[in-house]
Amino acid sequence: MLKVVAVIELVLVILHPGSHALSRDDFPPDFVFGASTSAYQVEGAANEDGRKPSIWDTFSLAGNGNMYEGDGNVACDQYHKYKEDVQLMANMGLEAYRFSISWSRLIPDGRGQVNPKGLQYYNNLINELTTHGIQPHVTLHHWDTPQTLEDEYGGWVSRRFVKDFTNFADVCFREFGDRVKYWSTVNEANVQAIFGYDVGMLPPQRCSMFSTVNCTRGNSSTEPYLVAHHMLLAHASAARLYRKKYQGIQHGLIGFNLLPFGLVPLTDSIDDVSATQRAQEFLIGWFMNPFAFGDYPDIMKKYVGSRLPSFTQKESNLVKGSIDFIGINFYYSFYVKNSHSSLHKDNGDYLTDISVEMRRYIPNDNSTYQVPITPEIFIGLLDSLKNAYGNIPIYIHENGQQTPYNSSLEDWPRVKYLQEYIGCLADALRSGFNVKGYFVWSFMDVFELLEGYKSSFGLYYVDRNDPSLRRLPKLSAEWYSEFLKSKPMDP
Ligand code: NOJ
Repeated sequence: MLKVVAVIELVLVILHPGSHALSRDDFPPDFVFGASTSAYQVEGAANEDGRKPSIWDTFSLAGNGNMYEGDGNVACDQYHKYKEDVQLMANMGLEAYRFSISWSRLIPDGRGQVNPKGLQYYNNLINELTTHGIQPHVTLHHWDTPQTLEDEYGGWVSRRFVKDFTNFADVCFREFGDRVKYWSTVNEANVQAIFGYDVGMLPPQRCSMFSTVNCTRGNSSTEPYLVAHHMLLAHASAARLYRKKYQGIQHGLIGFNLLPFGLVPLTDSIDDVSATQRAQEFLIGWFMNPFAFGDYPDIMKKYVGSRLPSFTQKESNLVKGSIDFIGINFYYSFYVKNSHSSLHKDNGDYLTDISVEMRRYIPNDNSTYQVPITPEIFIGLLDSLKNAYGNIPIYIHENGQQTPYNSSLEDWPRVKYLQEYIGCLADALRSGFNVKGYFVWSFMDVFELLEGYKSSFGLYYVDRNDPSLRRLPKLSAEWYSEFLKSKPMDP
């Protein structure tokens, strides 16, 4: 039970000084509110019931100085505790749950045999959700490439991945599509391409020799662009399949997910303003231009030259128009400064190609928050997407405040964060933005990528000292629940 003082403060926060109380009624009934997780970050049971490793298992178990502690072998044990978790979701009034399917649990070798136990697990989870009236929003690839496909031909680096991915998607559509109506093919495709194939912080750690991470494989001058190209083709191929074979019967939608940082020019000089525009094109236009217009942005062609793959006419037609919605994950904002490194036509890597310096944006007023709260930059981003690509439906797939893992259950920074972003979305909707849903990252304290169990984003605390991994609601869970139920809280 929350302390009385915390409850009173919570009521004050809900009332949002100076304005009316933020309420679920500020949003249309078909707008959906949920929370997110991903398979490797919550499921655990890594070695059970026929699951085989993904590149995340390999990376987190390598013990070679990767940047965090822990692994996802047990994670939140949602594989065994999904009923309890769905009950918590239902109790809090969650309308949707965004989770991902572990490819190597469903099809352990990446292709071929479907694992009946894997199938059973996802059927159970989906049934549990729908029985409680909670919409499943499913991500097919949350960075966890089956290790067998990585070993066999290098995963995303090879065009062969497109076919295997499409077959995996086919199995998911066929088996779960009667109940799942919202599919997202690839999570944060841009982050995966940059941090897995250039910077080298994320698996498969293929990266530049100039990288600060000690990795020696890969070719960062071409691979980030190549894997992004394959991601676009894999998405488009799965979307075509869905539209041809399933959409007429299942009536679902298929989207893609990106992390666009909030970008602010460091100064109002022409150089910094155009560097910001360039960064936006490299981070977002890289994927959104092909979806909207069938080709990469001109500025990327100019800076990357022949290292940027090109689309055949057939591929361009396939990719163009292949998303029904775009999923946006929003956390941080950055100042962008031009870095005068001019064009790198034949060598260089993603980070030098882009020719910018980025510094974390820290507003004066709330610099004590681990993740600064910048709703105005967030709305600016939505505005720039709308201007560049039309008023395409958007789901905010992830948004959340990071705090140290074992900090207080009275997580005011998270309450404040959620209130600010949800509040600004209510305003954005009133001015015509086509946002369809909002998901908090994360439903509970998951195995956080790169930081393991040192930091947390959860609405629920997961007590890792307790053998049953009991879940305890944080203040943010209470706040979100009150908001969702739209009733004033009785102190
Ligand atoms: C992005 C990723 O999709 C998710 O897996 C991660 O835990 C969160 N952001 C927070 O870092």
